[in-house]
Amino acid sequence: MKAKNPYPIMTADEAVQFISDGNMVAFSGFTSAGAAKVIPKALASKAREQHDKGSNFKIKVLTGASTSEAIDKDLAEANAISWRAPYQSDKVIRNLINQEEVEYVEMHLSHLPQAVSSGFFGKVDVAVIEAREITADGRVYLTTSIGASPTFLRSADKIIIEVNRHHSPRLREMADIRIMPPPPRRYPIHIFEPMMRIGWPYALVDPEKIVGIVETDQPDDELGFSGPHRVSEKIAEHVIEFLLREMSADHHPKSIFPLQAGVGNVANAVLSGLGAHPDIPPFYMYSEVFQDAMVELMANDKLLGASAASLTITREKLQTITDNMDFYAPRIVLRPQEISNHPGIIRRLGVIAMNTAVEVDLYGNANSSHVFGTQAINGIGGSGEFTRNSYLSFLMTPSIAKGGKISAIVPMCPHIDNNEHSVQIIVTEQGLADLRGLGPIHRAQVLIEKCAHPMYKDYLQKYLRDGMKGHIRHDLNKCYELHRNLIEYGTMLPELKK
Ligand code: COA
Repeated sequence: MKAKNPYPIMTADEAVQFISDGNMVAFSGFTSAGAAKVIPKALASKAREQHDKGSNFKIKVLTGASTSEAIDKDLAEANAISWRAPYQSDKVIRNLINQEEVEYVEMHLSHLPQAVSSGFFGKVDVAVIEAREITADGRVYLTTSIGASPTFLRSADKIIIEVNRHHSPRLREMADIRIMPPPPRRYPIHIFEPMMRIGWPYALVDPEKIVGIVETDQPDDELGFSGPHRVSEKIAEHVIEFLLREMSADHHPKSIFPLQAGVGNVANAVLSGLGAHPDIPPFYMYSEVFQDAMVELMANDKLLGASAASLTITREKLQTITDNMDFYAPRIVLRPQEISNHPGIIRRLGVIAMNTAVEVDLYGNANSSHVFGTQAINGIGGSGEFTRNSYLSFLMTPSIAKGGKISAIVPMCPHIDNNEHSVQIIVTEQGLADLRGLGPIHRAQVLIEKCAHPMYKDYLQKYLRDGMKGHIRHDLNKCYELHRNLIEYGTMLPELKK
């Protein structure tokens, strides 16, 4: 196969000659899964060389979601990124964003492909895409993620493919790729059940656009993973109890609706808890990432099938999947992010969404992305499309952070990703606040009672009592007092310091 390939094979250093200062470069990958690996590192070296010579070298970087260290750490450290979209989760680029060195456009992930193909960000000069194989007629078999790569392959002027032989060629059995036609002639998407397939196992590229193939043999970045801690387990218990109550109240059929879970410790704890509970029936997932806890749930026949945009799992779990492809491949569908996170499908399937916030205000507005309303953490990611469009949506957060110096329940959020109109259920380790059907004052009372940490309850109750009366109660002089205290005294309630 390799011998028949008509494309020029080259080193990463040769390939980066196709990338110039000021270019918009789209990299494959949704999380570090399937991210381009050697080109970003070669680009970082090229940038350093150019800077040493006194020349400018910065590029605009597009990815599917968060990405590998090679991009958001190495390339960022080389001071080679001027603009970044749609999501990041690395402290190096985060610092540059917060120092106003990198312009950051964080956005709903399902919107990205259409924004790119419609030219909203200008033209994509080069796409760097990791694949397991590319055929002479332009079929590109991707690796551990699909993300936005099919769109990048179609939109970019020049394409560099990293052919990564590390990955199992059988990953293609999970891929289901289709690019929607542009509006106003977009047809209905025929996904009526989480596992339905509507596309092909490969993305397409115009072979004329391929400027180089770089061969690699590298695993995806290893994920940091801490086992569930007590706070996450408590949150998980509240979610599970609530779901069981909903099922017995007949708000659910006896088979549970498909689930979505955000990334991280809390989500993994909820998934593991659901898997271990004897009264939760086997379920499907229609989610954004396929994550560690799901491997075991599948092996135990608790998770019947899962749709996602990537396999965001540790190397150990990926090996389990690779070693047991006959079992896992028919149970996992990997899709473009436009489809994995599609609001219409999320609503059609009645997804139950579970995401994380850093703080929630008394009325249910939630901040997942900016500390003090100014400092970016990661971004909204897929939390908006799932929170807004799901049948049931949970936002989960520990009630306090930094040993109690920070309350996650605050009078008003200084930044809002998911607003009160989208948010239904808030969960902390203290309890669960079901806000459905409650007016603002009632919501505030339930949130304080069920979710706030006891240390902060008196403050929040007083705020609510003393606020200017109206449909929503607020005191505009005091609504950010907790945040101002945190900046000034290092704690939201200075009296707790004594
Ligand atoms: N104010 C200031 N800092 C806060 C805070 C608050 N209200 N709440 C938490 N923090 C700090 C924590 O102490 C921690 O700091 P550290 O890194 O110095 O320890 C940091 O913020 C992250 O908190 P943590 O509880 O560890 O977060 P997490 O890993 O559970 O992630 C989000 C939480 C919200 C940042 C993360 O889920 C996210 O980025 N979500 C948005 C995208 C998303 O939901 N994607 C999935 C959709 S499919």
